[in-house]
Amino acid sequence: MTDNPPIEHPVWLTTGDFTQADEPFALFAGWLKEATASESRDPNAMAVATVDADGLPDVRMVLMKGFDRNGFVFYTNMESTKGHQLAEAPRAALLFHWKTLNRQVRVRGPAEVVTEAEADAYFASRARLSRIGAWASKQSQPLESRLAFEKAVALYTAKFGTGTIPRPPHWSGFRIIPHEIEFWADRPFRLHDRIVFRRERPGEPWTRTRLYP
Ligand SMILES: Cc1cc2nc3c(=O)[nH]c(=O)nc-3n(C[C@H](O)[C@H](O)[C@H](O)COP(=O)(O)O)c2cc1C
Repeated sequence: MTDNPPIEHPVWLTTGDFTQADEPFALFAGWLKEATASESRDPNAMAVATVDADGLPDVRMVLMKGFDRNGFVFYTNMESTKGHQLAEAPRAALLFHWKTLNRQVRVRGPAEVVTEAEADAYFASRARLSRIGAWASKQSQPLESRLAFEKAVALYTAKFGTGTIPRPPHWSGFRIIPHEIEFWADRPFRLHDRIVFRRERPGEPWTRTRLYP
């Protein structure tokens, strides 16, 4: 799922009327670029909403580590709460909110696990201590004390020494494949602009609908 050319962002999307964009990927790429210039940190932070076995929604922040026409990718512990929820109900909603731009983007669609190769490549790019942390943290499970966690980190640090740190079997990523992407931008007196792109399935054309704010 990586055979994708980089997404070009036409200049007019920054200077012109975004509600006339004919597809969402270039528009998102442009907004992310602007957010990267204006946010003091983590312009790629997004909320990921899932549901538990009872259908009760759950939500938490993650960092988006990949974006192309195939979807939005983040990495996590597959044994975490979100990992189990997505295994059970493989669909999610994402939310980006950029305070400096006063804009939000909402994404909905099915979730799939990234390929082993993608997960390996991203894991290998992480700082050494982050890779050790991925082994030491039983994400979302009860932890008796900070000390117990620090001991686990020390144990894995000693175990791996200066050698290669393989990707833990429980650590991978999810790709959310958008069926729906909504762009919202602040306008004076709450007369905001909202457009939503929808498609039945990947590869099919997008429809664009303007919504009342
Ligand atoms: C800005 C920010 C970025 C985060 N990025 C990630 C991430 O990329 N992956 C991840 O597993 N947790 C990330 N977290 C932690 C999650 O919000 C969450 O606490 C953790 O994944 C456990 O969630 P769960 O119990 O619902 O599985 C981040 C938290 C914040 C505040």
